[in-house]
Amino acid sequence: MTASTSDIEKAADALRGGGLVAFPTETVYGLGANAEDPTAVARIFHVKGRPPAHPLIVHIDAAERLDDWVEKVPDTARVLAEHFWPGPLTLVLRRGHRVSLEATGGLETVAVRVPDHPVALALLSAFGGGVAAPSANRFGSVSPTTAGHVRAELGDAVEVVLDGGPCQVGVESTIVDVTGETPSILRPGGLTREDLESVLGHSLASVSTSSVRVPGQHPSHYAPRARVVLVEPQNVVAEAEHAQERGHSVGVFLPPTLAGVEVNAHAVVTVPDSTAAYARALYGFLREFDQRGCDLIIASLPAEEGLGLAIANRLRRAAGPRPSR
Ligand code: TXA
Ligand code: MG
Repeated sequence: MTASTSDIEKAADALRGGGLVAFPTETVYGLGANAEDPTAVARIFHVKGRPPAHPLIVHIDAAERLDDWVEKVPDTARVLAEHFWPGPLTLVLRRGHRVSLEATGGLETVAVRVPDHPVALALLSAFGGGVAAPSANRFGSVSPTTAGHVRAELGDAVEVVLDGGPCQVGVESTIVDVTGETPSILRPGGLTREDLESVLGHSLASVSTSSVRVPGQHPSHYAPRARVVLVEPQNVVAEAEHAQERGHSVGVFLPPTLAGVEVNAHAVVTVPDSTAAYARALYGFLREFDQRGCDLIIASLPAEEGLGLAIANRLRRAAGPRPSR
C-alpha cells in the first residue's frame, strides 16, 4: 500500500517533467507541482477548478532550507520552524525570487511548510526543490485524507498518486502569518493555538479574517454535497429525527456524550471522545454521508480549544452559505 522507493522516484521525475503528483502528508493529501514552474503550477489550478488568485503552500523537506524560499526569516519564524517542523504548521513570509508568482497567486508573500510524513519527505528530498500544493480535492469540497479519496475525486487528472495510508492529523495545517510585528493565525489547523502560544510565550492575535486572500476562509469551503446544519448538542437527536420524518435522508454526528443512543436517521456516526481522533475522522465522515446519499447533516460544535478549534472552524464553513458552484 505505502509508496515504494521506485514509486517515489517516479513521482519526483513527474514533478521534474512539469507533471502533477498527489502525495500524503500528516494533515491531508496534497496535489503537488514544481513551485518554480509556472506552467506546472497553472495545471494545479486547472485540475482543482480553483480561481488563479488563490495562493498555494510551498512544501520543503527541512527547516534549514527555509531561507532558499523566502526573502528573510524573522526570529519568530525561525523559532516556530525549528520547534514545529516537520509538522502541521504553515508560515507566511515575504516571497523569495525562486517561488513563481503563479504559486503565490500574485502575492509578495509565500506560505511554506515542512510536512511530517515519511512519503512526503522522501518525495521532497528526491525531487530536491519546493513543491507547491493545495489539498488534493476540487475547489470548495472536502479535503482527502486517503489515497482512495484522491483517486475518486481527481482520478486521471494526476500523473501519480502516492499512497501513504490514512492521514494521522486529518485537518489542514495551522497557518501563521509572521510578516507583521506580531504573528497571527490565519487558519486554525492541526497545530493548536495553545502549543504555538506556549513556545512563543505570549498569546496570539485571534484568527483573522484579514484582507489577505485566504480562500480557505470562504464560507462555503470544506463542504460536502449534503447541507450541514449545526445545532446545540442536546438538540442533535430531536432535530435529526424531525428532519428524517419530514423526508430528508439525514446524516448525524452524534456527540460522544450520547454514544449508544438510538437515532431514527439515515446514517449515524458517533463523534470520538478525543479531539485528535475526531479531527482524523472528520472529513471521512463527511464523505461517507455523501456516499450514503444523505441530503442533510446534523452536527454540533466541539469545545473550541485544542484541536476543537480547527474542527469547529471546518464544520462552520461546511455549514456556511454556498454561492453557486
Ligand atoms: O495541511 C495543509 O496545509 C495542506 C497540505 C497539503 O499541506 N494544504 C492545504 O492547502 O490545505 P490549501 O491550498 O487547501 O490551503 C492553503 C491555504 C489557503 O487558504 C491559502 O489562501 C493560504 O493557505 N495561503 C497560501 N499562501 C498564502 C499567503 N501568501 N498569504 C496568506 N494565505 C496564504
Ligand atoms: Mg484546501
